[in-house]
Amino acid sequence: MLNLKRLSISIGTNFPMTVEQQRWATRIGLVLAMAGNAVGLGNFLRFPVQAAQNGGGAFMIPYLIALLVMGFPLMWLEWAIGRQGGLHGQNSTVGIFDKLSRFRIAKYLGILGVFIPFTIIVYYMYIESWCLGYSFFSITGKYFGILSRPEMSEFLGSFQGKAENSHFSGLGLAYFFFLITFALNMFVLSKGIARGIELLARVCLPLIAIFAVILLVRVITLGTPDPAYPDQNISNGFGFLWNPNFAELNNAKIWLAAAGQVFFTLSLGMGAIPTFASYVKKDDDIALNAVATAATNETAEVVLGGSIAIPVAFAFFGLTETIAIAQGGAFDLGFQSLPIIFQKLPIGELFGFIWFLLLFIAGLTSSVALLQPAIAFFENELNWTRQKSTVAIGTVLFLCAQPVIFWIGHGVLDEIDYWVGTLLLVVMALIEIILFLWLEDGKKLWKELDIGADLKIPKIFYFIIKYVTPAYLIILLGYWTIKDGIGILMMDGVADKNVPYLWFARGMMLLLIAGMAVIIGKNRRRHKGATQ
Ligand code: ALA
Repeated sequence: MLNLKRLSISIGTNFPMTVEQQRWATRIGLVLAMAGNAVGLGNFLRFPVQAAQNGGGAFMIPYLIALLVMGFPLMWLEWAIGRQGGLHGQNSTVGIFDKLSRFRIAKYLGILGVFIPFTIIVYYMYIESWCLGYSFFSITGKYFGILSRPEMSEFLGSFQGKAENSHFSGLGLAYFFFLITFALNMFVLSKGIARGIELLARVCLPLIAIFAVILLVRVITLGTPDPAYPDQNISNGFGFLWNPNFAELNNAKIWLAAAGQVFFTLSLGMGAIPTFASYVKKDDDIALNAVATAATNETAEVVLGGSIAIPVAFAFFGLTETIAIAQGGAFDLGFQSLPIIFQKLPIGELFGFIWFLLLFIAGLTSSVALLQPAIAFFENELNWTRQKSTVAIGTVLFLCAQPVIFWIGHGVLDEIDYWVGTLLLVVMALIEIILFLWLEDGKKLWKELDIGADLKIPKIFYFIIKYVTPAYLIILLGYWTIKDGIGILMMDGVADKNVPYLWFARGMMLLLIAGMAVIIGKNRRRHKGATQ
């Protein structure tokens, strides 16, 4: 018989629950919200592309090592910081850092934990809206008939307003899908954590799993699509990703890419994990919650994300072309190559629809979660209600998204992604380690993880997070700075016509940081005034 109580817990209704049941429901809800935060476009688009760009089986070894020495330890650290901050009534890294560190500068460093997730969403939400658009284009067969990659690239360019061509003039349509996506995000955000972000994750995560499994079954049963090319088959596609390749392990680029992927996919160094962890109770098992979140994300990434795009591209295009597609980036694989493949499958419209809808809802659960730190910032610093904070965030987000949408052809999206989606995540993680494990009582904070914990974290991880992880991060930062950072900072190779746009993007990011610093400063004066 249907157990209504259990059902009500699993779908988050208000059916009367015992205290213990409520605790479990809250815990499951929170883990799901955190998993929804982590499982996103990074799992299904970024991961396969990174893996293929970096030699498939050669990538997986550094990836798993990065997961062990950076992923899990940093997850635990961010959960511990978050819960401690929450006990002081703080939910954004600004307030959390302020309370947990004796240094006055800490709260200003905490700005990064609000700025990074917010700014990622400035462009992430636009990409999310493309997925909604393409799910519509798939089911209506709009791109059907376009069978070459250059033409499909032109189709995407038209959609983004980069180029007008014979297919259609798409920017109006792209804007329409952006507005829907924006409105949906704001709606969920305005509903709060339990009835908005968590509820969305409860509904969407199972949907993501169902869609991914449908696609997985379709991929596995593809066999050899073109008998004229017997090597281009699904098992070789899986082999490309899963046969370990030790010969490439001396290539630093692969280690860096793997570390970057672990950061992005687990939403580490973004400030979102401390924010969500700040809502847990004093004796909740955060050690286990952190592992549960990471495990859910990794299953979605490695098992599901790794089994769709790359094997299917391999089976249809072969090894050399798959690598070439991946070198073109996440958009080339997701929005150009897969739409061509869908046209070769029976009921390809439906598979295309499922693929892009899967991306859309995975993106949606991440974007709403990554906006929560900004909400918490306004609530904590200005004492604003959730509604007022949502309106403020929505307004700033909408304004900041305009240059991304209209100047995408000038490189604005890539510029912002480089600074906030790649570099600053590592900087933020390093700040957390230095501030809380080196300059404050790190052992005490780490002990936090034992409170209420069924899962005992092996002692070795304290050594890893204190010494190995930062060493890894410093090498990463140094290499990035020398190899890419200086060139990107100086805009080497940027066409003259794009330079003002990129400066605009940088100015916009600096303005956001400055705006938050002003709010913090005012708040401090306000508190002082209150005590005088
Ligand atoms: N962790 C999120 C993703 O993978 C941001 O997309």
